Order: sequence, then C-alpha cells, then structure tokens
Amino acid sequence: MGASVATPAVLVEDLTVGYQGLTVVHGISMRADFGTVTALLGANGAGKTTTLMTIAGGLRPTGGRVEIMGQPVNRLACHQVVRMGVSLVPEGRGLVYSMTVSENLRLHTKRRARRQADEVFELFPSLRDLRSRRAGLLSGGEQQMLALACAISAGGRILLIDELSHGLAPVIVETLLPTVRALARDRGIAVILVEQHVDAALRVADFVYVLNRGRVAMSGSADEVGGQASDIEASYLGISAGDE
Ligand SMILES: Nc1ncnc2c1ncn2[C@@H]1O[C@H](COP(=O)(O)OP(=O)(O)OP(=O)(O)O)[C@@H](O)[C@H]1O
Ligand SMILES: [Mg+2]
Repeated sequence: MGASVATPAVLVEDLTVGYQGLTVVHGISMRADFGTVTALLGANGAGKTTTLMTIAGGLRPTGGRVEIMGQPVNRLACHQVVRMGVSLVPEGRGLVYSMTVSENLRLHTKRRARRQADEVFELFPSLRDLRSRRAGLLSGGEQQMLALACAISAGGRILLIDELSHGLAPVIVETLLPTVRALARDRGIAVILVEQHVDAALRVADFVYVLNRGRVAMSGSADEVGGQASDIEASYLGISAGDE
C-alpha cells in the first residue's frame, strides 16, 4: 500500500473546469512531485487560481481528473482533500485578522502535533516575537509568513501557494521564496507555486508550467523554460522584456 516513489504528489490530466457553464480551463495536464517546487505561471485570468482551487477540491472538474498520491479526488470535498495532506495558501492569505499569530496557528495545528508550532517558529523566527500580535496588525510580508506557517502547521505534504508575492515588496519575496524551496528540499513537500513574477518563480522552481487562456502554453524544467523567459513574458504575461 501507500504511494510508490514514482507516484506523483499531484497529477492533473486533461482537466476542464469553469464557472456556471463557462469553461476557463481547457484540458490542462500537469504533475507535481514530492521534494520539488512546481511553478504555475501565466497572465491575469489565465486559469491559475481555478486550477489550484480544483486541485484543492474547491471546484468540481467538468472533464479530466485530479489525483492526489494516486487517488482520484474529483468527487471529494475540500475537507477530504485537506485530510489527504493538501494545504492551500489562498490568494487572500486566509488569515483571521482579529486573532493573534498564535491563535491563527492553533486553528491549523492538530492537537497531537502541537510541537509543530515551535517548528514553524524555527522556519520563521520573526513570527516568534509577534506571537501575541493580531494578524491584522502584521505587515504584508509577516502576514504571508503566517499564512505559510499555518499551511505548514496543518502538517500537509502538498502545499498549494497562490501568489505568495501578492502585494509584497520584491525584497520580502526574495526572503520568502527560499523558505518555500527549503520546504520542498528539506522536508520532501510537494509545492505548487502560482506566481506572476516569472524571474522569482524560475529561481526557486524545479519544473514550470505556463498557462495561457486556460491551456498549457509551455512546460519544462526551470532551466529550459528560463532560457525563454523573455519570450514568456512577452507572449503570455504581456510584459515586454526589460520591464519589472
Ligand atoms: N467565481 C468566478 N465566476 C466566474 N468566472 C470566474 C470566477 N473566478 C474566475 N473566473 C474567470 O475565470 C478565468 C480564470 O480566472 P483565474 O482566477 O483562475 O485566473 P488567474 O490565472 O488566477 O488570474 P490572476 O493572475 O488574476 O489571479 C478568468 O477569466 C476569470 O474571470
Ligand atoms: Mg489568481
């Protein structure tokens, strides 16, 4: 029993999904493996969040399938997918802003895994001193650290991160992304990282998928795709080479 080494953490095959009869993801196939960071890139509206939400069980595919560690999850609810070890760091960070850092962490930590609370402070030492501060009073970077810490505290082995860099200064992103890479490398977690910052994503990713209007326009190792980064930006992100 159990997943073999070759079984992907997440396998998406020919996935079609949309909203109220409007299809926005048209037959996407991708995989993510334990111990690696898989970046999902693409312009606004390309279908990144929709794909992530579907993997997390929040949207029902209209075609194709999603497997977590070899198990089909098309018919499962969010909480069942969470139980399979999937944690989502949503676009809006998903924190309870009126609660303190410690209280937010406790919401996500299983009783038998309280030790993990200390573990996350090792990963994010600056959160330790902010334990009693309300999440709403943290800086954007600190909130994002807390959102990551909450996802890790849930103990999942598959981490889906939607726009880590959203609203953050580049210098903050540069300090958070190596932590994401370390989670994959040192803990064997499978990370799917949705990003609009191509350069930052390529620096931490092992494998990359570029979405364009709900389809995979390009995929490959970060090195392969990185060689065409300016093409990606120009063609799929609408950014001309040389822009930030
Ligand atoms: N709840 C919804 N109802 C209807 N259409 C939606 C809904 N959410 C997203 N869409 C549409 O689906 C398409 C894909 O949206 P999605 O949020 O997946 O894009 P994205 O790649 O995450 O974009 P962004 O970079 O702006 O976050 C867009 O055209 C969007 O307008
Ligand atoms: Mg999105």
